[in-house]
Amino acid sequence: MTGATGSVGTQIALAVAGQGYSVFFTWHGSQKRAEETLEKIRWISPESEMVRCDVSKKSEITSAFSEFSRQFDRLDLCIASASNFFSTPIPDVTEEEWDSLVDTNLKGSFFTMQEAARIMRNQSFISRIITMTDISADLVWQGFAPYTVSKAGIQHLTRIFAKSLAPNVLVNSIAPGTITPGQGKAVEQEEEMVAKIPLKRLGEALDIVKTLLFLLESDYITGQVINVDGGRLLR
Ligand SMILES: NC(=O)c1ccc[n+]([C@@H]2O[C@H](COP(=O)([O-])OP(=O)(O)OC[C@H]3O[C@@H](n4cnc5c(N)ncnc54)[C@H](OP(=O)(O)O)[C@@H]3O)[C@@H](O)[C@H]2O)c1
Repeated sequence: MTGATGSVGTQIALAVAGQGYSVFFTWHGSQKRAEETLEKIRWISPESEMVRCDVSKKSEITSAFSEFSRQFDRLDLCIASASNFFSTPIPDVTEEEWDSLVDTNLKGSFFTMQEAARIMRNQSFISRIITMTDISADLVWQGFAPYTVSKAGIQHLTRIFAKSLAPNVLVNSIAPGTITPGQGKAVEQEEEMVAKIPLKRLGEALDIVKTLLFLLESDYITGQVINVDGGRLLR
């Protein structure tokens, strides 16, 4: 799993460990959080490991997978969750900002899936790839063009990989709406956001975890994007 140090990512990694998986995850800038996360995961799943990896660089993804293969002999599930997010009003977007968002999100997810596919297509059992996208892929957020196109691109890659890796590898995407960061942290303009959500609350990490667990149980769903947004996309 990439991005296990994220606010939702950590909960996903813990839930996967709780399902009996050994977890091999990447972190990038948050070493302390990574160490704390690994410690918690190891209470449940002692064989788990982590490695530092900048997913915007293909060479680092390849190294992370080499390390994975040295330590584990099968890959049941790959979750591409690493993501960069910040606002980028169109007139001010720099090349550096574009590269940072698109390389981390879109390029990083592509090469993570490519490496996972190399292992999975040679396995004789059903395995799964899950990408993490965003309902903003379906909205027109003018201040977030590189981020939203990167997530829309991942959704399309999800369909392409699903078709090319069938029937042994199921590839799906979870697209959260706004998820509360938890631990009492405020979400900017929370009231305004809740007003746009038919189910009248922000999402929680648990809403995403439940969707992931559903996908782990499903054997007849591939190439789908599941929006977990309290109905925010209903128009
Ligand atoms: N939380 C939400 O409200 C929300 C809403 C819509 C979609 N999503 C999507 O759901 C997924 C999980 O969200 P989250 O809340 O866990 O995200 P998050 O808190 O923003 O965490 C981002 C994760 O990506 C990693 N990352 C960032 N740049 C990286 C790089 N260059 N190389 C490798 N890893 C990198 C971070 O690692 P370090 O911290 O170690 O640097 C961290 O683990 C993401 O794909 C996100 O886009 C979340």
